[in-house]
Parts: sequence; C-alpha cells; structure tokens
Amino acid sequence: MKISVIGAGNVGATLAMRIAENDLADVVLLDIAEGICSGKAMDLTDAAPVINHDRKIIPTTNYKDIEGSKIVVITAGFPRMPGMNREELLLKNSSIVKEAAGNIKKFCPEAIIIVVTNPLDAMTYLAFKESGFPKNRVLGMAGVLDTSRFTALVAGELNVRHRDIETYMIGSHGDTMVPLISHTKVKGEPISNVLSSEKIEEVVKRTRARGAEIVGALKAGSAYYAPSASTFSMVEAILKDTKRTLCVSCFLDGEYGLKDICIGVPAKLGKNGIEKVIDLKLTEKEAQEFKNSAEVIRKTTTKLKELCSK
Ligand code: APR
Repeated sequence: MKISVIGAGNVGATLAMRIAENDLADVVLLDIAEGICSGKAMDLTDAAPVINHDRKIIPTTNYKDIEGSKIVVITAGFPRMPGMNREELLLKNSSIVKEAAGNIKKFCPEAIIIVVTNPLDAMTYLAFKESGFPKNRVLGMAGVLDTSRFTALVAGELNVRHRDIETYMIGSHGDTMVPLISHTKVKGEPISNVLSSEKIEEVVKRTRARGAEIVGALKAGSAYYAPSASTFSMVEAILKDTKRTLCVSCFLDGEYGLKDICIGVPAKLGKNGIEKVIDLKLTEKEAQEFKNSAEVIRKTTTKLKELCSK
C-alpha cells in the first residue's frame, strides 16, 4: 500500500510520520525543494528501527513517483503568516494545487485526493474541478480539525474525557465555521445542560480563533500537529474502510440545499472516499450560519474562477 504526500513541510512530514509509524502504508514524500523531502525522509527512515516499523518513506521531486498511490494528500503551499487572511493565500496556493491535481489525474487516475492546503474549501473545489474525479474521491481536511479543537476546549472546560463529547463543526474552514450545538452531547446529554450559553459562545469564539492564536504564538508557520493528526484520521478511515463519520469538505450536489460548492459537512468515509454525506437537521440559527459560511466560500470560489480563467 502506497500513499503520496505532496509538500514535505510541517504538515506533510508529520503526516508521513504518522502514516508510517502507525504501519498504514509506505509514503512518497514529494516537494519542490529536493533537500527538504530527502532530508526529512532520511530522518524518518532513521527513526523506523527505534519505533519498530518497516514502512518506507520515499522522497521525490518528480510527480511520476506518485504512480500507484491509493490516496494522495496535497499539503503543498504557503502557510498563513501573521496578519494574512486565508483568502490572501488563494492566489499563491491555487497554482500549486492546480499543478498537483493535474499530475494526480495523470499518474494516479484512481486515487482519492485529500486537500489540506488553504484556503481549504476553495482549494478542494479547485482539485475537484482540475482532476475531473468523481465527487466521492476529492475531499478536504478542515472540519475534523475544527471539531477536534472545539472538543479539546469543551473537555478542558468541563474536565471530561474527549471521548465523552460528540460534536460536529461544519461550514467553511475560517471565521464562519458552524458549531452544531444542537447535535453536541457531553456524556450523552445536550451540551446546553452542562454549559451555559455564554460559556458555549466563548468556547466557540476561542475555537474560531485557535488557528490564528497558534500562528501568533509560533511567529513563523502555522499549526501542524493537530492538522496532521486530523488528516491521518481521514486517511485511516479510508484505508481501513471504517465508515467513520467525520466532518470534511465535500462537493455538494443538493445536500443541505447547496450545489456546486465544496464545504464542510459530516460524511461517512470508507474505501471509496466519501461514501455518504450525512444530512443533519439544523436549527434555524445553525442553518443561517451555514448559509453565511457558504456565501463566504462562494465569494472565494468565484475569485478563484476569475483567477483561473485569466
Ligand atoms: N510543489 C511541491 N511542494 C511545494 C510547492 C510545489 N509547487 N510549493 C511549495 N511546496 C512545499 C514547500 O517547499 C514546503 O516544504 O510545500 C511545503 C509547505 O510546507 P510548510 O511551509 O511547512 O507549510 P505547512 O505548515 O506544512 O502547511 C501546509 O497547510 O495549513 C495549510 O495552507 C497551509 O499550505 C499550507 C499547508
């Protein structure tokens, strides 16, 4: 089993490490910078005997080497710098994702694409269009991360275990992400029974600001431990065909009343990629927030289309 990771930066290399060390697959690590992928591949290979796995990490700058991959993850791009919003990344990252999707189509026509590069929903849309793959085989990583961040903060507030919390974060990967409070349970109880609405609002605000908070603290670069862990959970669900429901960016064709857009929704993941979009019932407030979120993505996607047609 082989998986390719495009971009051997912080997210890509940490993801490669998680895949190899959990004995999921061999990893082709592709980067435009030869030294980065070969140096990191050597370092990860040197760790294999200590960790006791026999997975290979294969560095390359040549897209031909991704041939035969079951999944290709696109992490290549520029991370968000302090003060830079996700939309400003659009111009820089769209050419990289376009190049990656074109090469995946050429060398791995049967692969499943997971997009990590920001602005996430627009980049997932671009990969979907450029590859021409069916909608079940192109998905984006954001909702898993946002859900995990919200879960971690709620667990901290209530001093409960993470596994005691069930929640979904949908919509765009950005300031307009939508927490589904009406579907959030703590030890099986509605969250509103155990946290005041003010406290819930405060935790939602902290979740929305978490990425920027980390960027501000790191000064250079952005989060990568949680993003790589989130991407790993998607890779694992697909490779092991677990049918686990995770919040991921999907191309919608009528679900949630939306068409021709990639946006975060809960979906069952298995060997075919997105096996089913879970159409949850939203409250009026959640539906309105989701609509706002979709509008933000549409604006970015329209900008993207303009850029691509030039
Ligand atoms: N082809 C292949 N790799 C590329 C290309 C390209 N055209 N352009 C840039 N890269 C590589 C860089 O050389 C770098 O090694 O992508 C890598 C990005 O790594 P980091 O800068 O460390 O970024 P990272 O923190 O891993 O974030 C990856 O996730 O959060 C999103 O939008 C963010 O694009 C970022 C992505």
